[in-house]
Amino acid sequence: MRRPKLAIGLVSVALLSGVALAGSASAEPGPAPAPPGAPHPVPAPPPAPPAADSLRALGDRVGLRIGTAVNTDELGSNADYTRITAEQFSSVTPENVMKWQLVEPTRGTYDWATADRLVAFAKKNKQLVRGHTLVWHSQLPTWLSSDGTTTTLSNDELKALLKKHVQDQAKHFKGDIWQWDVVNEAFDDDGQPRQTVWYKAWGGLGYIADAFRWAHEADPKALLFYNDYNLEFTGPKSNAVYDFVKTLKAQRVPIDGVGFQGHLDTQYGFPDLQNNLQRFADLGLKVAETEVDVRTFTEAAPNVNTPTSPLASYAQESYWSRALKACLAVRECISFTPWGFGDTYSWIPGWFNNPQEGAALLYDADLKPKSQYYVIQQDLALAAGAPHRSGPGAGRH
Ligand code: XIL
Repeated sequence: MRRPKLAIGLVSVALLSGVALAGSASAEPGPAPAPPGAPHPVPAPPPAPPAADSLRALGDRVGLRIGTAVNTDELGSNADYTRITAEQFSSVTPENVMKWQLVEPTRGTYDWATADRLVAFAKKNKQLVRGHTLVWHSQLPTWLSSDGTTTTLSNDELKALLKKHVQDQAKHFKGDIWQWDVVNEAFDDDGQPRQTVWYKAWGGLGYIADAFRWAHEADPKALLFYNDYNLEFTGPKSNAVYDFVKTLKAQRVPIDGVGFQGHLDTQYGFPDLQNNLQRFADLGLKVAETEVDVRTFTEAAPNVNTPTSPLASYAQESYWSRALKACLAVRECISFTPWGFGDTYSWIPGWFNNPQEGAALLYDADLKPKSQYYVIQQDLALAAGAPHRSGPGAGRH
């Protein structure tokens, strides 16, 4: 049993930082009962301020937004899920509902309703929104491409469609998006440009500069990001993306930042993440950890979130902690976003299932915080003393 040891750690942190860490969930007061005979229902009270020991409040103290990907099927229908989203996080990312497949399932007919609902939720709860994502090869509508690399449409049609898509979507959400993932996953692991429908239509990577320019024209205040996975490790992919965004900056393409997805796995060594965040930041870019999860080997279905090794959670705690600390150590790192918060809703068990992996998030299948949550909470509380994160915090850009 490790919990007693952890609890001692938490008490000392709480003493050091002056923040009580016990009992992370503070109940929001329910709506006041309507007085007898009242002609109209009493309006719901504004949301309560976040508890001082919530991730979002602790992040605020060091100028770091703590985000989460949001599953909009659960938001509003699942009370615990909805409450935790509001209480713990100061930024939200739509896990799926801003992807092209979801916003234009039928050619020429937009459906913004679910994404609009998330934006309204964020406003109500004083959260910022990471828009995800304008240009990607995956989760395209089938009328456009079923596999991201082949299509029946001509190059000219594809070019006109991408321009319209980026402009229309950025305009629709104008003023509501803090950071846009303008382009997602344009490079392969070997550092070569991914051979997507966009790459083929342009005959090169020119679609990326075009997309950033269109997005900037449509919503000049949004921070525009290139987002990808495996940038965390120095290697062919991280190096290629580094060289590429450097040329974008040199060409005065309006790129503001690079998102490191941060899908980590305990079977691999921990990446030199801080080093990579810093070298991209040194190009004059903001950086962010945008989709963090820490997966590990788990049992076969139905226990896909039960680690096969009783020691797994130690490695996971360490990886979560180091991933957060890497961001805290880099002043230009403006947000830290896990890819969801309840293991039941994580994309990992469905995606990495041969061999089975899971248990990748901070909350378990019953939406109870795991030891990983408490480690992150403790790290944030301790970071309150980090001098380069106090003052005008990076998260307030
Ligand atoms: C995933 C979602 O979590 C799943 O629900 C969906 O089925 C597939 O996409 N990189 C990204 C995210 O940029 O958009 C992906 O999200 C996970 C990998």
